[in-house]
Amino acid sequence: MGILDRFSLKDRIALITAGAGPLFGSSLTEALAEAGATVITASRNLEANLEYAEKLRSQGFDAHGMQLDIGDPESIDRLHDELIERFGRLDILVNSALARDGHAGGGFEEQTPEQWEKAASGDFAGLFHICRAFLPDMRKQGRGSIINISSIYGVVSNDPSLYTGTTMKQPPTYNFVKAGMINFTRHLACYYGRDGVRANCISPGGYFNGQPEAFVERYCERVPVGRMLENEDIQGAVVFLASDASSYVTGENLMVDGGWTCH
Ligand SMILES: NC(=O)c1ccc[n+]([C@@H]2O[C@H](COP(=O)([O-])OP(=O)(O)OC[C@H]3O[C@@H](n4cnc5c(N)ncnc54)[C@H](O)[C@@H]3O)[C@@H](O)[C@H]2O)c1
Repeated sequence: MGILDRFSLKDRIALITAGAGPLFGSSLTEALAEAGATVITASRNLEANLEYAEKLRSQGFDAHGMQLDIGDPESIDRLHDELIERFGRLDILVNSALARDGHAGGGFEEQTPEQWEKAASGDFAGLFHICRAFLPDMRKQGRGSIINISSIYGVVSNDPSLYTGTTMKQPPTYNFVKAGMINFTRHLACYYGRDGVRANCISPGGYFNGQPEAFVERYCERVPVGRMLENEDIQGAVVFLASDASSYVTGENLMVDGGWTCH
């Protein structure tokens, strides 16, 4: 098999949580679909996922929308059962959903214990439940790739000087959840590698999303490639980790950060 064939996701079933989202979600989904996978996106708004899937189908991709509340274990179980019944298996699980309400409320001193609990029950417990739901299927079929979307802020702290003069907040729940995700991924890699299941993280840098000019300028000055992340930047990483091109890569945290964490 040639190297480009090893990147192919033909006949693979992929679930991307929040895969219809306008920022990273849809970039991840479209990359996997273009590489040949059947893609399923799922988040709270079923309508939005169904509409997005229809749009992708009209472009010739095999796409489906389902419902998921990552903070609700019953919703995860329902998604699992329905997906396995409809598609028979899951080869690729991309955990991109972020329950942002757990990260609201500002900086450390402004955040409340309730927000920490929300972040823990939404993102932390959600990751645990969804991996636990699909892991037995992947082990049984002897093949699976789990890709968790972490962040530069799971590896390093935010730099306070970037935010001077803006109203942007940096909730530490985010650092807590994203850092935990990276080492949880290594745990999965170590314990399930012999079953054919690989687990990796992607840690993207900052995406331009209408942030204040002063922040964007400082960010671009600091990052070695001199710009914020764009949709296409993340796509090669997810196809690589999902496919057989990365068959000996597991437990890795692939930085897609333009060199942010190099200095
Ligand atoms: N935007 C960035 O600069 C950046 C940088 C590094 C990492 N990331 C990570 O990328 C991933 C995607 O984030 P994004 O930037 O596209 O932002 P986003 O806020 O658009 O993504 C969050 C997505 O999660 C979904 N969601 C929220 N609550 C949910 C719930 N309870 N159940 C299911 N889905 C839920 C939303 O519908 C949304 O599509 C996140 O994990 C985020 O931490 C983003």
